[in-house]
Amino acid sequence: MADGEKPLLRVLNGERLDPPPIWIMRQAGRYLPEYRELRKRSKSFLDFCYSPSLATEAVMQPLRRFPLDAAILFSDILVVPDALGQKVWFVEGEGPRLEPLLPLSAWKLGEPEKAIQRLTPVYETVERIKENLESGVALIGFAGAPWTVATYMLQGRGGDKDEARRAIYQRPEDIDALMSVLVETTAQHLAAQVRAGADCLQLFESWAEGLPPFAFQRVVIEPTRKLVQRLRELGVTVPIIGFPRGAGAQLKAFVEQTGVTALGIDTQTPADFAFEAAPEGMALQGNLDPQTLVVGGEALERAARDVLIAFGSAPHIFNLGHGITPEATPENVEHLVQIVKGGA
Ligand code: CP3
Repeated sequence: MADGEKPLLRVLNGERLDPPPIWIMRQAGRYLPEYRELRKRSKSFLDFCYSPSLATEAVMQPLRRFPLDAAILFSDILVVPDALGQKVWFVEGEGPRLEPLLPLSAWKLGEPEKAIQRLTPVYETVERIKENLESGVALIGFAGAPWTVATYMLQGRGGDKDEARRAIYQRPEDIDALMSVLVETTAQHLAAQVRAGADCLQLFESWAEGLPPFAFQRVVIEPTRKLVQRLRELGVTVPIIGFPRGAGAQLKAFVEQTGVTALGIDTQTPADFAFEAAPEGMALQGNLDPQTLVVGGEALERAARDVLIAFGSAPHIFNLGHGITPEATPENVEHLVQIVKGGA
């Protein structure tokens, strides 16, 4: 199959397909017993991400079980701060930790070009995945959008984002400096993934929620717009899916101003609201509640059919409204894929 004929890419180019293509955010991961087993082969999660053989195997695991329409690179949004020289580690059962980013230390971050050199194993992983994929399956490259990555860099961990939001008022120049380092590094990181074989890209703006409009403009829209523009300057022509989770009332401004090709819709957003925000014919991706994959059964069926109906008139990519949780079961994922593909 030629690249342009892959169902996911057809929909990203504005075509409506019935059934819609499906992939699942965080589809490689801890809900799969074979992933938990594989994960034991590396003590540190980042080392796992930087091992092309382990990362490629993690990507292939869900594809062996389910007829999904896309593979997503196995990596993490926090490889960017790691490559920029900020210490990043993962605490078992708790999540990421980063050494605190002190005032003005944004200026001391590494050079984007050097950071990209440190991420060479990630691009090798993309090449290996590409060699392993069946022809109809699209390969998605990804990165965190600048603000989401910045929240982890500023907070030093997951959880609430109060400190990061306070920094917008307390040290706006630092924030702007940090954003421009992240825009350039992320653009180069994504361009390298495309050169290695990624068919399209997703920007995870997982923490678009809770910002007042001026701040949303400054830390979400502006950096994302610059990032998309920079990618196009670097010669990247592939579709870019923006996923501004929690953008709510700002969704329309995000679509109109950032230049993303397609829009990831979060769980809380009604399809009609997304139709209002996005221009006619733009691909919309989402937005099944991840918890239905924990519950399963009739509740899953009903919720999945509701999503199919709600987005049926648009070019639609079936997905969750946020990442799958470790409590989800592979059986429920299998059931979901059957429902969407029309077999159940
Ligand atoms: O199939 C895939 O999507 C896997 C690739 C992938 C991972 N992280 C692997 C991972 C992707 C696309 C991500 C994105 C990511 N990472 C986001 C954006 C998406 C979202 O869910 O909002 C964010 C915010 C992160 C940062 C991060 N990484 C957190 C908060 C955590 C710990 C909490 C958690 O959900 O596990 C991670 C660790 C992580 N990244 C794991 C995996 C499989 C689990 C760690 C492990 O296996 O030991």
